[in-house]
Amino acid sequence: MSFDLPPFPAPGDLPGHLRWQAAGCGDRAPLSRALLRAAADDAESGGPTAALLAPYVDRPAADAPGLRFLAAAHYLVLNGSLPELARFYPSAGGTEPFDGAWEPLHKALIERPDEFAARLTAPVQTNETGRAAALYGGLAVLTHHTGLPIRLLEIGASAGLNLRADRFGYRVDGTVYGGQDSPLILDEPFRGIPPVPLGTRVSVVERRGCDPHPLDPADAEHRRRLESLVWAEQVNRLERLRAAIAVAGRVPAEVDRTADTAGWLADRLAEASPGTVTLVWHSVVQSYVDHDAWRAIEALLDEVGEHTGGDAPLARLAFEPETDEDGRGRFAARLTLWPDGTSHLLGTTNGHGIPFAWAG
Ligand SMILES: C[S@@+](CC[C@H](N)C(=O)[O-])C[C@H]1O[C@@H](n2cnc3c(N)ncnc32)[C@H](O)[C@@H]1O
Repeated sequence: MSFDLPPFPAPGDLPGHLRWQAAGCGDRAPLSRALLRAAADDAESGGPTAALLAPYVDRPAADAPGLRFLAAAHYLVLNGSLPELARFYPSAGGTEPFDGAWEPLHKALIERPDEFAARLTAPVQTNETGRAAALYGGLAVLTHHTGLPIRLLEIGASAGLNLRADRFGYRVDGTVYGGQDSPLILDEPFRGIPPVPLGTRVSVVERRGCDPHPLDPADAEHRRRLESLVWAEQVNRLERLRAAIAVAGRVPAEVDRTADTAGWLADRLAEASPGTVTLVWHSVVQSYVDHDAWRAIEALLDEVGEHTGGDAPLARLAFEPETDEDGRGRFAARLTLWPDGTSHLLGTTNGHGIPFAWAG
């Protein structure tokens, strides 16, 4: 499962980055794509977008100016601050054709730049529950191979919704696996043949994550931020998010605030207890973390992993973007189990996680 994207633009190239993000939206998000393209033209001609997004173009991979821009506008729509724009936003009940949306947005950017500037400071923390399909697969494979209950640790957890992946339901050919009475049921999220039975009984005994800016699903303001990060025309994703928040209300999980991800992970790995397998999971986090900090996380996992095994093994499930053999983009889930330390491709998908195609 792969897709074509133009080359990633250079730091400082705001129009280029907005167009790159527009290409990422593709046909799945025509409103968001239209707004990003119009914003790119606006930035190029020195319109209000140029100054508003200028603080976020030096590190475009980490600062994601296009996603920030969409989230800021979406937040103000959901908040009721931009009723003229809301008429175009399906997430707010809008039904007007997408191509008319730039005009009221452009007007608001000119007349109320401070409201946008205040919203743009919020980092991108999309918590995408479709990615739970890959995680559920990883939990099943790990359970099948080790027979052990799982300590689930998540790096870059955002609101920690996917720490409840085993409590979401996964409907396949009329059978629901995972949480059968869950408020969130993902319909036919898989393609191909799973490597182990999806009915494998998974037991998660600890759920803990970290993030430099954790969001709390119990906090109304944080919920609004999570909603604003969903592309406004993808109402099904918004419904999925709200259902996952309902699961979070039933199943506790802790997300610690820390800027020292490697330090947090070292402390958690030192707590490994006999009779459990520790799974470190991360999804769409690597590009947000500086290169040396990421190397430190990987070195720590390798070092600790080499000395584990037996009755307290260590595993890692990485869900990150990569390029396939033909140079096309895809998101891949790769599972590593130590002390062997070999990584296996579990499957591939798009950035939002479903459908998840088993590698076979
Ligand atoms: C695109 S979001 C993905 C969130 C979640 N993993 C998901 O898939 O839904 C990226 C997350 O990485 C977090 N992040 C940024 N810098 C980080 C760091 N140095 N260590 C850990 N997480 C970081 C962000 O705060 C944000 O929550």
